Formats: sequence, structure tokens, C-alpha cells
Amino acid sequence: MDAILVTGGAGFIGANFVLDWLAPSNPDACPLVNLDALTYAGNLASLDPVAGDERHRFVHGDINDRALVSRLLREHRVRAIVNFAAESHVDRSILGPDAFVQTNIVGTFNLIEAAREWYTTLDATERAAFRFIQVSTDEVFGALGPSDPPFSETTPYSPRSPYSASKAAADHLVQAAFHTYGLPAIITHCSNNYGPLQFPEKLVPLMIRNARRGERLPVYGDGRQVRDWLHVSDHASALRAVLARGRPGETYNIGGSAERENLSVVNMLCSLLDERSPRADGASYAAQIAYVTDRPGHDRRYAIDQRKIAAELGWTPAVAFEQGLRDTVDWYLENDAWITGIETGAYRQWLDTNYRSGERAR
Ligand code: NAD
Ligand code: TYD
Repeated sequence: MDAILVTGGAGFIGANFVLDWLAPSNPDACPLVNLDALTYAGNLASLDPVAGDERHRFVHGDINDRALVSRLLREHRVRAIVNFAAESHVDRSILGPDAFVQTNIVGTFNLIEAAREWYTTLDATERAAFRFIQVSTDEVFGALGPSDPPFSETTPYSPRSPYSASKAAADHLVQAAFHTYGLPAIITHCSNNYGPLQFPEKLVPLMIRNARRGERLPVYGDGRQVRDWLHVSDHASALRAVLARGRPGETYNIGGSAERENLSVVNMLCSLLDERSPRADGASYAAQIAYVTDRPGHDRRYAIDQRKIAAELGWTPAVAFEQGLRDTVDWYLENDAWITGIETGAYRQWLDTNYRSGERAR
């Protein structure tokens, strides 16, 4: 069998995974087919470093297109699927959940069905090697209180936003495919990723972008919500470990061991920007922080217990949060053109809808 199929590989984590897979440090990597619908979150510019690499085949298409997915599986004799394709932004799911149901639930179901059909055509050796990796989220577990133990693989599901509910539904379909049909599927639950190539609607790149453009830094509620930050390169290495050594039917939590309050992250970003690209007036970027109306149903805290992946697969995160955030700020400062390229009418319209009209404008 010849290739892996990555879906959503023009998005933030998918593109980082693709670049990592095809990096010179991984010379024996098999070819990779990258299926992406290029929604607002997909960006072909992120894949520039692998343009011309014949091991990378980009296909513009939808995971809901079963005939297309089936053809790709057959033509490329796919030995593993890594499903990143999703609508991924909680705020957008609150304002318009339909696309989340269509891509995250129905789209994942389509992928499972196509994978199942392909799997039945494989011989015993090929079946033993085949994997379906569902990239899920820690948000399916709900919200933690300040002294609750972190999420483990046995924490019951308790999704609270349309986004996390759609990811939870997809996980159940994946589990059902394993138990009912024997599809060798594995689910991963990662915490909040940060790093290069992230769409500037998420906390870290939004704050860097707004700071540099002299706009306010919108902190939801009291800013004391806690996230467990995972550098995207660590996520990519964890997924490679899962592909290589993960056991079908299992789930693995992937975290960064870096719980931080949002306000602390925003202040760290301001200090890094003050140091690296000071404001013309000499004031700190922290002066641009503005407390805005909270997100409805805002989950207070996420945290990951990753002892299972460490013990079973020998994976632990390598990037310390302070260094990772510093490198991330440097990347955005050096790649302002990447952000400018995204600032289309649709992006500005999103900023208007989420931040400038209605409650949050005050
Ligand atoms: P993203 O929004 O940056 O990228 C999603 C990609 O999927 C885009 O390239 C988009 O064009 C593509 N896509 C959307 N709908 C599609 C469809 N119907 N068919 C084909 N392609 C489609 O998302 P991300 O941050 O890279 O997240 C990747 C995965 O990781 C998602 O499944 C998400 O739920 C999960 N995840 C992300 C985070 C995070 O911090 N970003 C945390 C936990 C889990
Ligand atoms: P986000 O990057 O949207 O990821 P998620 O909702 O999946 O955790 O948000 C991270 C945290 O930052 C979350 O607690 C919401 C908060 N946040 C703000 O305070 N202001 C913002 O403008 C955004 C986008 C997020």
C-alpha cells in the first residue's frame, strides 16, 4: 500500500502535519494525498514549502463527496487516513452551527463509510496495517473546575458547544465503526494548539494580529479561563506516534503540559511583542487589552492527563510553552504577508460579526 490520506491538510494543524510528514528529516515518508475543501480556514499558501514535492498530491474536494474519497482510497492504495477536516471555531459554531453538523458529523460518517468499503478489499496483511485516525478534541469532555483532575481517556463525554457536540458525535460514529465493523480506528483528543499557520480567529494569532494593527485585544469575560497549550509541532509528532504504534479501538489524549489563564497568555504575547516589535509611542501592547462580553457557555478550564500516550507510545511534548510562544510570535512577525493574505472581505466580516456588532462592541 502506497500513501496516507490527510483531510483538512490546508488548515492549521493539517498543514503543519503535512510539512512535518514531508520534512527532510523524514526521508522515508510515503506519499501523502491531501484532501481539503478550502473553506475560509484552508490556505494553499501554507503548503508552499512542499510545492513541487512529488510525494504531495493536493486534491481540492469535500470529505462529504463519497465517490471522490472512494476513488482516492483506491487510486492511491491508501494505508491510513488522518482526518483533520472540520469546522473548528467555537465562536462560529455558536453563530452558525449548520456547517459543523455537515462537515464534522456527516463528513466524518462519509469518510468512515468510504474507509469501510476500501478496507473490505484489502488482504489480511494490509488490513493489519490499515489505520483510521480521527483527530478529535479535549472539548468533548466538557469543562473542568479549578481543582478537578485533568481529562483522561475515561472521562465521560459532556460537550457544551455546538462545535464540541459535533466532534463528540463524530467520535461516537468512529467508535461504532471499530466495534461493529472492525475498522481499525483510533481517536486522539488534543488540547489547544498554537504555532505557525493558525488562522487569526483563534486566540494567539488574533491577539498578535490585532496588537500589530493597533486594534483592541478582546479578552472574553474575566480572562481567567484556562487552556492547556500544545505546540502544533508536538501534536504532529504525537500523531506520528499514534499512526506508528497506536492500538486500534483506543483513544489517546495529547496535551502540552502547559495550563495557562487566557489573560496570562495575552500578557505574555504583549511582552514578547513589546520586546520584538515595540509600539511607536513606547507604550506596552497591554494597553490595547479590552474586556468584552463573554462567550455563551464558555468552558472554564481544559486540562489533559497524558500518562497513557506517554506510557504506551513513549510520547511527551518537547516544546516548553514560553519558548514555543516566543517562536510563534517571531514566526508571525516574519510572515506578516501570510496574515495579510487572509485578510479578505470574509475575514473582516467575521471580525465585524463577532466583535464589532451587538454585545461585544460595548
Ligand atoms: P482549521 O479550521 O484551521 O482547518 C480545517 C481545515 O479543514 C481547513 O483547511 C478547511 O478547508 C478543511 N475543511 C473544512 N471542511 C471540509 C470539508 N467538508 N471537506 C474537506 N476539508 C474541509 O482547523 P485546525 O485548527 O487545523 O483543526 C484540525 C482538527 O483538529 C479539527 O478536526 C479540530 O476539531 C481539531 N482540533 C483542533 C484544535 C486547535 O487548537 N486548533 C484543538 C483540538 C482539536
Ligand atoms: P480559541 O482560540 O477560540 O479556542 P477554544 O475556544 O477552542 O479554546 O479560544 C481560546 C480561549 O481564548 C477561550 O477561552 C476563549 C478565549 N478568547 C478570548 O478571550 N478572546 C478572543 O477573541 C478569542 C478568539 C478567544
